[in-house]
Amino acid sequence: MANSVLVLEKLNRIYGEGEAQNHVLKDISFSLQQGEFTALIGQSGSGKSTLLNLIGLLEQPSSGELYLTGQQISQLHEQERTRLRNHALGFVFQFHHLLSAFTAIENVMMPMKIRGIANKQLKARAQELLAKVGLEKYAHRYPTQLSGGQQQRVAIVRALMAQPALVLADEPTGNLDSQTADSIFSLLRQINQEDGTAFLIVTHDVNLANRCDRQLVLKDGILERDTRVKKE
Ligand SMILES: Nc1ncnc2c1ncn2[C@@H]1O[C@H](COP(=O)(O)OP(=O)(O)OP(=O)(O)O)[C@@H](O)[C@H]1O
Ligand SMILES: [Mg+2]
Repeated sequence: MANSVLVLEKLNRIYGEGEAQNHVLKDISFSLQQGEFTALIGQSGSGKSTLLNLIGLLEQPSSGELYLTGQQISQLHEQERTRLRNHALGFVFQFHHLLSAFTAIENVMMPMKIRGIANKQLKARAQELLAKVGLEKYAHRYPTQLSGGQQQRVAIVRALMAQPALVLADEPTGNLDSQTADSIFSLLRQINQEDGTAFLIVTHDVNLANRCDRQLVLKDGILERDTRVKKE
């Protein structure tokens, strides 16, 4: 528990009421340790994105408890939840949601800028991270002037700006060809190993899931399997 970035205890999520009730997540319990690189897999509709939304503090569970970096979420006020979300978590989605009117580096700095962090400090970190993902020469390009893989790398840099303890990635390579997907995945792995950032990655790709340390399998809202991946 001491090194857990995330602890879930009997988490449930129910949508709707009465006849229309949909019990999407059922008594989900697991924890993620610091620096763990975990795949979340399961068929379409099994509840993966819903689970990520709960962990990302974007939605509230119907019952159960959630601890993020040791803090019990149900005990926090909305403002404290937002603060924790901004500081402890990074988000990467299948579609990167970059703002087309802004350059790569502006996109990367935007969330932190909104939080009132000094520009000079931000710029140095943004440049350092863009260089790390091989985009130092592309900092001043607009999203439409970048390839899909380059755009996703910008989105990854944006997610890492606040040095999150845990990055939640919902099919981060789902929209890319297999070679680009592979290189993006390697990049996530590299960041994980260098910085000790924990990752929870939703993927449909068995090969990528097999390159994780651990696999969580959801089936009809139940955590059906939780296995460590053997490394040869
Ligand atoms: N806001 C909502 N209101 C009602 N039902 C919802 C809502 N969001 C999700 N659901 C339902 O919850 C179930 C799980 O959806 P979820 O998006 O978590 O699945 P998923 O595993 O991410 O699927 P996919 O692989 O297709 O992305 C589905 O039956 C879906 O219809
Ligand atoms: Mg989904």
